[in-house]
Amino acid sequence: MIKTLEWTSAGVRFIDQTKLPTEETYITAKNYQEVADIISTMVVRGAPAIGVAAAMGIAIGVLKSEASDAAALRHDLNHICDVIGKTRPTAVNLFWAIHRMKQKFDTVAHLSVPQIKDALVKESKRMLVEDIASNQAMGRHGAVLMPATGNVLTHCNAGALATAGYGTALGVIRAAVESGKKLHVFADETRPFLQGARLTAWELMKDGIPTTVIPDSSAGSMMRAGKIGAVVVGSDRIAANGDVANKIGTYQVAVLAKENNVPFYVAAPFSTIDLATPDGAGIPIEQRSATEMTHFAGKQITPDGVGIANPAFDVTPAKYVTAIITERGVARAPYEASLAEQRNHPLNFDAS
Ligand code: MRU
Repeated sequence: MIKTLEWTSAGVRFIDQTKLPTEETYITAKNYQEVADIISTMVVRGAPAIGVAAAMGIAIGVLKSEASDAAALRHDLNHICDVIGKTRPTAVNLFWAIHRMKQKFDTVAHLSVPQIKDALVKESKRMLVEDIASNQAMGRHGAVLMPATGNVLTHCNAGALATAGYGTALGVIRAAVESGKKLHVFADETRPFLQGARLTAWELMKDGIPTTVIPDSSAGSMMRAGKIGAVVVGSDRIAANGDVANKIGTYQVAVLAKENNVPFYVAAPFSTIDLATPDGAGIPIEQRSATEMTHFAGKQITPDGVGIANPAFDVTPAKYVTAIITERGVARAPYEASLAEQRNHPLNFDAS
């Protein structure tokens, strides 16, 4: 399995996703500031991977703290969380991870400083293991929804690279293929950062899953021509009513899927569900730098001085979503009820 990120004795090691697919290189972050930078610059990206990276960044920050008592260590923890919390605003997994690490601190705050540090490192490692187990469970739930044979479409990269391993949307596809289904994947190239062309294609090819990269703008005509059996994508944040924030361009794929009677599935861990946000209007959308639009592979492609808008995500209203697949099961509309119901049934990772 591709190691998107891992805890090592030298620091947190990441595969550099900005260099893929032509170079497979690794970067080791030795402190929390480097982890924050790695998240901001998208060396690591994808909501669940951002969550685990944040947890490990907090762990390494706390480990390096010179605080001599729990109160001073908590002060450092809060500062580290503030820095890491400012990296990317849309993926709620980042804030989920920060919350979980702070909660862990609370449960061990009565222990010695070395013991607290050890507990936080262990918690971050546990989150990595849980993320993979959660993706595999999601895969089992979602595989049965995939067609027995034919083409599925995905947008962006919701694969092993976007998680601690196995993937959400690509986890569903992997599990379907492992169960004997004969699938071919159409991967939207996903302008402007090209997560589909660079990352989804790279990791599916490594697994021997037949893949064709298509321009984002061709997805609609492919569906109209009857070439797509299902769409499956990941998500950065799902509101309580089932509105789904995901990579820019997902909304138009979903609308076109409904128009063409193609099921549109979203696969995401329960840590992506934000029950505190009632609907998509409350989801913050990250605006990324103009350079991602004005330059392609280092070459300027737009005239000097032209206006640029570069929203990284959009919101797909719940009415376009056929089902939301989590590690806890398959939720269907009305999502207020089905997602709230899943809240009461967490997966027991110790037993799984
Ligand atoms: O900007 P990115 O590459 O972090 O955006 C990633 C996506 O939009 C993914 O689809 C989403 O995070 C789900 S990843 C399992």
